[in-house]
Amino acid sequence: MFAMDATLTDREKTAERLLAASAKHSFDPDKELDWDAPFEEGRWFWPPELLSLYDTPLWRRMGDEQRMELSRHEAASLCAIGVWFETILMQLLLRHTYDLDPTSGHVRYALTEIADECRHSKMFARAVTKMGTPAYRPSRLDRQLGRILKTVSTTPGSFTGTLLAEEILDWMQRLTFPDERVQTLTRGITRIHVVEEARHIRYAREELRRQMATAPRWEIEFTRLTSAQAARVISRSLISPRVYAEVGLDPKEAVAAALASPHRQDVMRQSAKRLTDFFDEIGLIRGPSRRVWRASGLMPLPA
Ligand SMILES: [Fe+2]
Ligand SMILES: [Fe+2]
Repeated sequence: MFAMDATLTDREKTAERLLAASAKHSFDPDKELDWDAPFEEGRWFWPPELLSLYDTPLWRRMGDEQRMELSRHEAASLCAIGVWFETILMQLLLRHTYDLDPTSGHVRYALTEIADECRHSKMFARAVTKMGTPAYRPSRLDRQLGRILKTVSTTPGSFTGTLLAEEILDWMQRLTFPDERVQTLTRGITRIHVVEEARHIRYAREELRRQMATAPRWEIEFTRLTSAQAARVISRSLISPRVYAEVGLDPKEAVAAALASPHRQDVMRQSAKRLTDFFDEIGLIRGPSRRVWRASGLMPLPA
């Protein structure tokens, strides 16, 4: 019988739990955060260890003021690129609901999540304005790849892409909001985002696990390839090379320094560790896609 389907019951139970949690802990960033307060002298806009150039020879040549400026521009890049990610995620989620029963908890939760992402994107955009940097964008190629992904992606591909963007940023934000060296506004933004994204991650993980158990073989193969490509695009998009020029560095030299940095490589792999373990467990990282995953810098190279 329709209502007794185990997958449906399980799906609905998760949705009801997430809807209850959303009713309890949702934030309006416009009211929750003090947007008029000036930035605090001497505080980082993003933890230094999470900056792309931290601990590189180039970093050691930079003065304190230039390092602080880099933190402002990298924080703004993450916020602006975050809006790009979320614009894609919102479309993927809306597409996911297209064929489903609008009265189900599963769809009501998807719509709740889209509402969360609307508030987040407005919050990130407002933060960029406040930080006074350019509105950083992904490269033209990555913007086009994003356009293709959000148009042709299948359901498992959509939830894989969602998790990729959400879990990597979540890992960084969990280190940021408790950090007392960091600007109050950054801490407030990352705290709100961590609380609300925990639900999104739960929803996407559980749905992806169900999808991987039932999707046809071609769809699983397709998802393995596209998700590995998405991992590459996401990891290279986080910091726009333009931030380096804005703080007076040579963008080519700075991009090369970040790419060659063992510290940065370690940060990127750590940020994706929980996620790649999960993807590996549900069978998403297999065969030729493993090579692309390694090239993304999000997975350790073989010993
Ligand atoms: Fe978000
Ligand atoms: Fe999210």
